[in-house]
Amino acid sequence: MSRDDNKQTAPVTRERITPELSDAFLTHGLTPSNLGMLPQPDGFAQPRADGSCNDVIELYLRVRDGVIIDARYMTEGCLHTVACGSALTTLIKGKSVEQAYQLEAEDIAAELGGLDPAHMHCADLALKTLRHALQDYYEKRRSPWQKLYDKT
Ligand code: FES
Repeated sequence: MSRDDNKQTAPVTRERITPELSDAFLTHGLTPSNLGMLPQPDGFAQPRADGSCNDVIELYLRVRDGVIIDARYMTEGCLHTVACGSALTTLIKGKSVEQAYQLEAEDIAAELGGLDPAHMHCADLALKTLRHALQDYYEKRRSPWQKLYDKT
């Protein structure tokens, strides 16, 4: 490639890359909130997506007095999965466990300013991960000693 070829390349603009993606989606996808892990989480899950993409989200919850005071996530997944993990953790912080259980995939899509229907399964994965992590929270409450032996 010569220098002239470079000059003819049109500048990469937000509109050229993602004409259909909202600012909220790009913020969550490109500068995600709450990435990371929590030691000895009160709730944890890492299910894989249903279907062929095989994406996975790890979700870590810190719960005090029935309220999710911290939530972190890690993922091996597409940009939409990264954005959904960021949106999910943003939505659940400060909510009670019961309120978090009532979230739907559409709430995650709304936090993102909309979601391509072809990627709604990324929001479904985030929601499935949340529900598994909340189940883990309830199981650990029933058997608190399990938390001490947790590998996470
Ligand atoms: Fe399958 Fe994101 S592409 S969960």
